[in-house]
Amino acid sequence: MEKVFISRRIPNRAIETLKSAGLEVKVWGSAIPPTQEELAEHTALADALICMLSDNINKDFLLKNKHLKVITNYAVGFNNIDIGAATELGIPIGNTPDVLSEATADHAFTLMLAVARKILDSNRSIGEGKWKNWEPMGFLGQDLRGRTLGIVGMGRIGQEFSRLCHQAFGMKILYFSNTAKPEIDKKFGAKKVDFDELLAQSDVISVHTSLNEGTKGIFDKKAFRQMKKSAIFINTARGEIHQEADLIEALSAGEIWGAGLDVSNPEPMSSESPLLTLPNAIVTPHIASATIDTRANMAFIAAQNVIKGLKNEKLLGFVNPIVHTKV
Ligand code: DGY
Repeated sequence: MEKVFISRRIPNRAIETLKSAGLEVKVWGSAIPPTQEELAEHTALADALICMLSDNINKDFLLKNKHLKVITNYAVGFNNIDIGAATELGIPIGNTPDVLSEATADHAFTLMLAVARKILDSNRSIGEGKWKNWEPMGFLGQDLRGRTLGIVGMGRIGQEFSRLCHQAFGMKILYFSNTAKPEIDKKFGAKKVDFDELLAQSDVISVHTSLNEGTKGIFDKKAFRQMKKSAIFINTARGEIHQEADLIEALSAGEIWGAGLDVSNPEPMSSESPLLTLPNAIVTPHIASATIDTRANMAFIAAQNVIKGLKNEKLLGFVNPIVHTKV
């Protein structure tokens, strides 16, 4: 019987799917993730691995585990995996695209509204005993109707977020992306622009790109200074795309209006981070895809990736399909 190791507890849908395909499943049961050694120890006995975005699947790990017939992330992003090394070793790598686009876009939308309307700061003020009267000038937020949205990375999630903002508030859409998306331009009147124009023109900037050498740290001191003072920065993609110290400085100095983050740099965020007390920042702990249905669907795709990988078939979410065409 072929064996699958899952490095954290994930929805049962994965386990049921794998078991009904006749596979033996072992799940890391602790709420604390396995260390690199513990991960390697369990993977040594497995034919397939379902790993998390917090697992470091580097070259060294892959070399020690080249017996694996398939590895799939329980995530759409795969910056935690050395894809080049896996491809060289002929290991198919899977991910869980599409099924989390809506939940992630919904979360970005939630953060955008929460920052625009000072939801967290106004809520905190009640607990601090500051709600004494109705305040004619208290917690004045921003309207979003007709404002300009700047998307960094117009993939599936960026497109869904654009749709929400365009349909809810008639927002104008600008985007910075490697590829033009004529169908999106047509649908939402969107316009592809360069990074500097996106920074200068947008009222809300939302990051939906993958983390790679081209996007790492692009939101730095200089970028925040190029943004409008009234701009809202949203990042639900990867924390390393912004420079956290520069963001803290920009928020503290009022160089931008506010930020909504579902990801941080590093992760997990320290409980001492100023981002947790700044009045114009809202942070959630990387939960954008965390709905019951979405996580169950991600579990199903991950399980299908394993089943297909073990049969040497194309994965549903296939990061390095070249491995398959080589076979
Ligand atoms: C992903 O899938 O990459 C998200 O960041 C977590 O759901």
